[in-house]
Amino acid sequence: MSSWQNTDIVKHTDVVIIGAGVIGCALAYEMAQRGLRVRVCDRRAPGAGASQASAGVLAPYIEAESRSTLEQLGVRSLELFDEFLSRVVADAQQDVPYVRDGTLEVATDDSGLAGLERSWRALQEEGVECELLTTAQVREVEPMIGPLVQAGLVVRPHGAVSVRELVTALVRAALVRRAVFVDACTVRRVRGGRDAEVETDQGVFRAPTVILAAGAWGGELQLERVPAVPVRPVRGQLLALAHVSPLPQRVVWGRDCYCVPWSDGRVLVGATVEDVGFDEHATLGGVRHLAAAASRLLPGLEQAVLENVRVGLRPCSPDRLPIVGRSRRLPTLVYATGHYRNGVLLAPLTAQVVADFVSSGREDPMLEVTCPARLGDL
Ligand code: GLY
Repeated sequence: MSSWQNTDIVKHTDVVIIGAGVIGCALAYEMAQRGLRVRVCDRRAPGAGASQASAGVLAPYIEAESRSTLEQLGVRSLELFDEFLSRVVADAQQDVPYVRDGTLEVATDDSGLAGLERSWRALQEEGVECELLTTAQVREVEPMIGPLVQAGLVVRPHGAVSVRELVTALVRAALVRRAVFVDACTVRRVRGGRDAEVETDQGVFRAPTVILAAGAWGGELQLERVPAVPVRPVRGQLLALAHVSPLPQRVVWGRDCYCVPWSDGRVLVGATVEDVGFDEHATLGGVRHLAAAASRLLPGLEQAVLENVRVGLRPCSPDRLPIVGRSRRLPTLVYATGHYRNGVLLAPLTAQVVADFVSSGREDPMLEVTCPARLGDL
């Protein structure tokens, strides 16, 4: 039994959450804070899945097309971050490194330059605080930048959060609010009824609501009368570098990688995007790709210590949008998966929307665009 586990296990709760990733833990906290009795099951420790592939960049204006649904969801969630995190930090009594000093996206060729100009115009129209920089201006704001840079785009509202500390703090804060985490718990099947029954290797857990937040593994679960949720794993490898000096000023985003500096001298370099099934190994090819890209972007990183390689499997849905909402076929089941590259960014919004829905039936407009039924008879 690990230290984060609360031993006060009862067989019946208001909610069972399958999956202790950043989404499952954020849901557990938000629902426990609203007074619901919550149990979280995972066969691994919290944050062992897609969270491993995340460097914690909070950048909806880079990750999503201008004015797309994903951008709208990301921007809404980013706006919740300050308040959400301050609640988590206060309840967990634990600091979580978090910065909101923008991102610097750089172009190193003509097509990259054209792309940055397009993004800048779109962001101007949307009223987002941003600046398009010449080569000389990029060097001024980021002295570490490599020789190939042609232009840069600073997007002010962006930021980054340290994912490992975030997950730990979410678990602590949820425990403070009396959520129960069941460690090393393999879910065998979910059955319907007035109360759902989650059959596990540690007994049957009953609850009127079961939330599927198992990330890339969601499609592997046996759900009574419901087809498998269409998520596939997309591997991300990430380099953790240490003893970087001087540090980049803020997140630097290039064509082939992004670099996220932390005040303890670490830089996270992310991330590969690989379609290799449920393979969580780090590879020489992945490390070589990221190392070469990082050295081109910020040549000073050549001297950094390679501390470790992190690997995570992101849950990707067919349209790359999250799958959040009630199952039509099994009304006790609520999905919260498919967040693909944006689980950390979308955690506060997903947690709030699902907690409101479960606790009071309130249907946020997010649920219209993330509705599971858009992807089949779920
Ligand atoms: N959030 C970026 C990634 O998954 O690589």
